[in-house]
Amino acid sequence: MHSRFSGSRFVRAAALFARMVADPSMPQLPPFMRVGSVEVRPATVLAPMAGVTDTVFRRLIRRQGGCGLIVTEFTSSHGIACSTNPRKPTRSMRYLAFTEDEHPISAQLFGSKPEVMARAAAVCQEQGFDLVDINFGCPVNKVVRCNGGSGLLRDLPLVEQILKAVRAAITIPLTIKIRSGWDENDIVAVRVGHMAEDNGIDAITLHPRTRKQGYSGHSDWRHIAELKAAVKIPVVGNGDIVTPEDAVRMAGETGCDAIMVGRAALSNPWIFQQIAEYSETGSYHTPGQEDRHRMIRTYFSMLVEHGAPDMVGRMKQFATYFTHGVRDGAQLRSRIHHSKDASEIVAQVEEFFLAGREAA
Ligand SMILES: Cc1cc2nc3c(=O)[nH]c(=O)nc-3n(C[C@H](O)[C@H](O)[C@H](O)COP(=O)(O)O)c2cc1C
Repeated sequence: MHSRFSGSRFVRAAALFARMVADPSMPQLPPFMRVGSVEVRPATVLAPMAGVTDTVFRRLIRRQGGCGLIVTEFTSSHGIACSTNPRKPTRSMRYLAFTEDEHPISAQLFGSKPEVMARAAAVCQEQGFDLVDINFGCPVNKVVRCNGGSGLLRDLPLVEQILKAVRAAITIPLTIKIRSGWDENDIVAVRVGHMAEDNGIDAITLHPRTRKQGYSGHSDWRHIAELKAAVKIPVVGNGDIVTPEDAVRMAGETGCDAIMVGRAALSNPWIFQQIAEYSETGSYHTPGQEDRHRMIRTYFSMLVEHGAPDMVGRMKQFATYFTHGVRDGAQLRSRIHHSKDASEIVAQVEEFFLAGREAA
């Protein structure tokens, strides 16, 4: 797969200059973000998404270009700290597998025991991760019940203990990802931001929904602006970016140092490339049927190459995401979901797009 960006740096710089002259008030994404020793360029981040952002999907995003930083799925600090036999890695250790072309990459950890989190972070550093991120945002009951994820937003003294312990255990940049608070009566983003800053944390990502909200309602970007105004460390804005226009608007409205995209990247893996193109030129390429065919084929062949044990399940899961925007996509989805094995799925995809070309 190759980048669809055409033209030289000079042409793009000239287009950007022309755009700024035409509309100097037009908001811009910062060209890069510095997180401790790591430069994130461009200033865009693929959100950690459990069950989605494994090594195969992360590499797919990397290959498109335009994404400055990728993050693993959240990983149990307990599972990592308890993994003592390298020949029999725990499931958590398998989540930490990545390839060289994924750099810069951050490992996201969850848990609630400072010493366990510290040990797990040290393992991530040994594994070659560029950064470690701590999850203080996960709303899932299973995690919250053990006081992990967003559950910790109700116990800020414990948050501070975790920050101190993990900071002392690693030398690579350490970041945190939070929601705005437990509920609308307990918004703690700025307090946690100050705590992060005071404890040597290198950046903070805010998804400005409360834990109680889950994914309902909308992200209140005003909380990102408040956090940005309150702290000196870089702030990554996250929540409800669906288009490149949204990304630039979030940067303009909040002053955040970088933006993070999650769900939109599932049905539109081109989004980072589009954001980069839009910030440089004011327009972007919209993928057509051929692009979508190439994307599905590439992702499926990467899965086959990777030899994932749950390959057929993954193909069906991603067929649901990737067929959005495909002409007659429901038909393709149904064919894939009714297939028995990987080779039948691949054959169905080829047949579907070939028939579409012949009919056109
Ligand atoms: C399927 C799924 C899995 C997620 N898993 C994680 C996770 O492992 N760690 C985390 O910090 N956030 C996780 N999130 C939250 C996202 O990182 C992000 O904060 C949220 O989706 C809002 O961004 P968006 O509107 O761009 O999707 C997950 C979200 C989804 C939809």
